[in-house]
Amino acid sequence: MKQKDIQKEDNILFVGIDLGTSRSSISASNSKREWIESYVGWPKDFISQQVIGKLVLFGSEALNNRLSVDLCRPLERGVIKEGIEKSEDAVKEIIKHLIELAKPESAQKIYAVVGVPADTLKINKLAIRKAVSECVHSLMVVTEPFAVAYGMNLLNNSLVIDIGAGTTDFCIMHGTIPSEEDQKTIFNAGDYVDEQLYSYLSERYPNSRFNRNMVRQFKEQYSFVREVSDEIHVEIPVDGKPVMHDIKNEVRRACESIMPALIETTTEMIARFDPEFQVKIKNNIVLAGGGSLIRGIREYLQDALKEYGPCNVSCVQDPLFAGSDGALKLAQDMPPKYWEPL
Ligand SMILES: Nc1ncnc2c1ncn2[C@@H]1O[C@H](COP(=O)(O)OP(=O)(O)O)[C@@H](O)[C@H]1O
Ligand SMILES: [Mg+2]
Repeated sequence: MKQKDIQKEDNILFVGIDLGTSRSSISASNSKREWIESYVGWPKDFISQQVIGKLVLFGSEALNNRLSVDLCRPLERGVIKEGIEKSEDAVKEIIKHLIELAKPESAQKIYAVVGVPADTLKINKLAIRKAVSECVHSLMVVTEPFAVAYGMNLLNNSLVIDIGAGTTDFCIMHGTIPSEEDQKTIFNAGDYVDEQLYSYLSERYPNSRFNRNMVRQFKEQYSFVREVSDEIHVEIPVDGKPVMHDIKNEVRRACESIMPALIETTTEMIARFDPEFQVKIKNNIVLAGGGSLIRGIREYLQDALKEYGPCNVSCVQDPLFAGSDGALKLAQDMPPKYWEPL
């Protein structure tokens, strides 16, 4: 029986979920696609509960109420903090909320493939399963870059580099389900760029008032490596008055600060294969995640790797949903014996 028929007959909703450190998304077989920022907030006390009027807040709503809620970003450094129940609860709430956003019919069974950062899978597989198990009927947990690779049909001789907020995850595909050896996580990612940019700007403009959230927004609007022709000026208050600040150099330095580690890890991972495969993989490198939106990053990496022979780097079309779309495709293609019933 084909998967589609199974789906109809058993009244199953297949979902792919990308559980990211900063953003989480869901793609469902009923064509719904939704995303939220991976923040959960619980009202601090009964006053804040009355003010907020909800038991739990998500994403930007949680962030905007950060003074009156206990805020949790459960996968901050790519792993659930060991033994911290709040983080596990937060993961559970995010999954539950995403599934609600996909609007399953009331009797429908949920079959979910969940993509998580590579280290989370290694260290927290049980915690993730526990957190997800209440909301779904069947589950498979995979790494985020593997989900991206599957969605793009990059099953052989390719390398996916997923530059997220807390982590950059690498995954080499060579025609099988990737093993631990084929995957690697480093912490040079979006949050790291934000920290660098914050400290460069503090150094250059000690009297200006800005916070990490503003710095991240500057980055997301203007990020680039190498050269761009436009000037980059942003408004920041000084002594209570808005003043324009030139931040171009700082943006470039901050964005380029993750490149050496990215290049080193890429070369290291490819070097494990024999030369014939090395050439093939190097011609099939794909950048994913929010960090792939940094202007010029594709060319930067490609030129750096070209020193050791031909190489081709591309970017996914839709970084926000590439992971959850891939996880959905995997869910729909997967033979029944791979599903772990819960
Ligand atoms: N245009 C952009 N330029 C640079 N970084 C960006 C841009 N848009 C988003 N980001 C960064 O990408 C990261 C989020 O990427 P995402 O793939 O959603 O991460 P995760 O999977 O860890 O949740 C954040 O650090 C965010 O600031
Ligand atoms: Mg991600």
